[in-house]
This record gives sequence, structure tokens and C-alpha cells, in this order.
Amino acid sequence: MTDLVSASAPGKIILVGEHAVVYGRPAIAVPVWDVQARATIAPAAPGAGCTLHAPDLGQILPLADAPPDNALALILRLTLAHLSLPPFPDWTVTVTSQIPIASGLGSGAALATALVRAVFAKAGKTAQPDVVSDLVFQSETLYHGTPSGIDNTVIAFGQPVWFVRGTPPITFSPRLRFALAIADSGIAAPTKETVGDVRRSWQAAPAKFEVLFDRMGGIATQVRGLMEQDGGEVGRWRALGGLFRRNQQLLAEIGVSSEPLERLIEAAQAAGSFGAKLSGGGRGGNIIALVDPAHPQPVIDALTAAGAKRVIFTTVGKK
Ligand code: PMV
Repeated sequence: MTDLVSASAPGKIILVGEHAVVYGRPAIAVPVWDVQARATIAPAAPGAGCTLHAPDLGQILPLADAPPDNALALILRLTLAHLSLPPFPDWTVTVTSQIPIASGLGSGAALATALVRAVFAKAGKTAQPDVVSDLVFQSETLYHGTPSGIDNTVIAFGQPVWFVRGTPPITFSPRLRFALAIADSGIAAPTKETVGDVRRSWQAAPAKFEVLFDRMGGIATQVRGLMEQDGGEVGRWRALGGLFRRNQQLLAEIGVSSEPLERLIEAAQAAGSFGAKLSGGGRGGNIIALVDPAHPQPVIDALTAAGAKRVIFTTVGKK
């Protein structure tokens, strides 16, 4: 076994299709490389056993004492078993993350992915993305119950994912490069609440909501088309921005936008964003604004001035 090993994984963000995806329409999510999770494994003294350190969480835990619902211990145990390694190797495992937690950026799946990769590296094995993705999915199933499979796929493959509920997520390679400013409203996204509210509204007016979901699905199809096709970048950024704006209107219509999110979206667009929308569950959480990769600063500054607690700038697609 190798001595000190380290591995990382990106965050993720939903581009289009949130909420409609719950009703069988497609959604697209992309990796966010500008915030990452990292796992490091160092050898410990013989007989010391395995200790998990999560300094961000102030957690130091011997693996042998970890409760069954500890997410990191769960993925570590699964990976050790998958590789037929001893259940308590003499290791110090440290995980750190730049990814804000519980904000739709996939922090849990990214930490798990980094950890799986580090264990594979420690064992001198190559971690294939499909195997990593499956292990992270298994751990998320044990932890959350019913994960969609988006997070583990985007993060383990490091590629955009086309996702339709009930079918295996499909990764694809974008030919369009584009840039996003991801602005955090500072309000925790109450995803359970918004998903529940949308369900009640859909039950009360199914025909109307099916039409709205169809439109969102249509937007996801067009976004994928723009991402995969060749041609001038600026024209496609404008088209993509227009689709973000339309998707946002539809999200507002189903009741998941909010005044703070609208304020951020308007500020971004007034400062030159091609188009902006909420991302994820809505009401709180993040908005994404499509920006010119060479001149993102005016939009970033406008978002900060409009109250964003944090702005992450990221590029999607070929560099
Ligand atoms: O929390 P996020 O950003 O991964 O997104 C939630 C997406 C929803 O469509 C609102 C809910 C879901 O389970 O798909």
C-alpha cells in the first residue's frame, strides 16, 4: 500500500429542470470545479485502527465507534468491503471541503466521492467513475433513503448529466464552454417544503401543472442541444440565457421563487448576465447567472451588492 494519498471531487449544480424532474421531465446538472472536497489518508501506528477526522465539522471519530448513520463512516465501510480490505485499517482519514453544505451543491456526494477515490488510491487501485458513482449512490441510499442519482453521477464522472427519473443518468460532453456565477441567497433552501407545495398545487390543478412541467422539459432539451452543438459561442450564450429566463418564469409560476431570489436574478441581469434563474429547490439556496467568461466581475459585484452571501464563479465545458 502507498503511504500518504489524497483525492478530490467537485461540487455540482442543477442547470435546468428542477421540480419538473420529479414529474418525469429531464433535468441537467453540471460539475462545479471551483469548489472541491478532499480526502487524505495517512498511515497510523500499527494497531491504532482507523480514525476519521472532519476538521470543518470539528469531528474526530474512531471508525469502530462511528454510529451507523454517520455518512462518512458508511461510505468508508462500503469502500473497504468493496475492495476486500480489513474493516479497520491503521489509517488516519481526513476530509475537508470548500463546498457549502446543504445548499444544493452536492457537498455530501462530493465528500463521499473524494473518500472512495482516496481509499482506492491507498489500495493502489484505479477508481473507475461508474464504480465510484455506484458506491456513493449506495451510501446515499442508506443515508437519505431515495436519492435521485444526479449528484453521485455528475460528481463521480465530472461531466454534465442528463437525468430522467427512473432511468440511468446519462453523462454527456458539452461542446459549448460557458460561465456561471452561482450566488447564495444565504437562506437555506427548504427543498422538502417546496417539493411538497408543488405536489399539492399539481394535485389541485394537474392539467395546468403538466403543461408547465412540459415547458420546463422542453427547455432542458433545448439546453442540451445548445450545449452539444457547434457554432458561435456568444450567440449560444444569448440563447442559453433566454432559456434560463424562461425557466425562471416557469419556476416562479409553480411557486418556488421568492423575493430575495428575484432580487439576485434581476441584479445579475441588470449587470449584463445573459440570463439567470434559481437552481435546486428554490425559495432560498442559489441562483445561477450566465456570464461572459472573460468579464464576469460586474455580475459578481452586482450579486454581492444585492445581498448574495457568497458568489462562486465557474466554467462549464471545454476550457
Ligand atoms: O437540492 P438540489 O439542488 O439537488 O435540487 C433539488 C431538485 C428538486 O427537483 C427540487 C427535487 C428533486 O428531488 O429532484
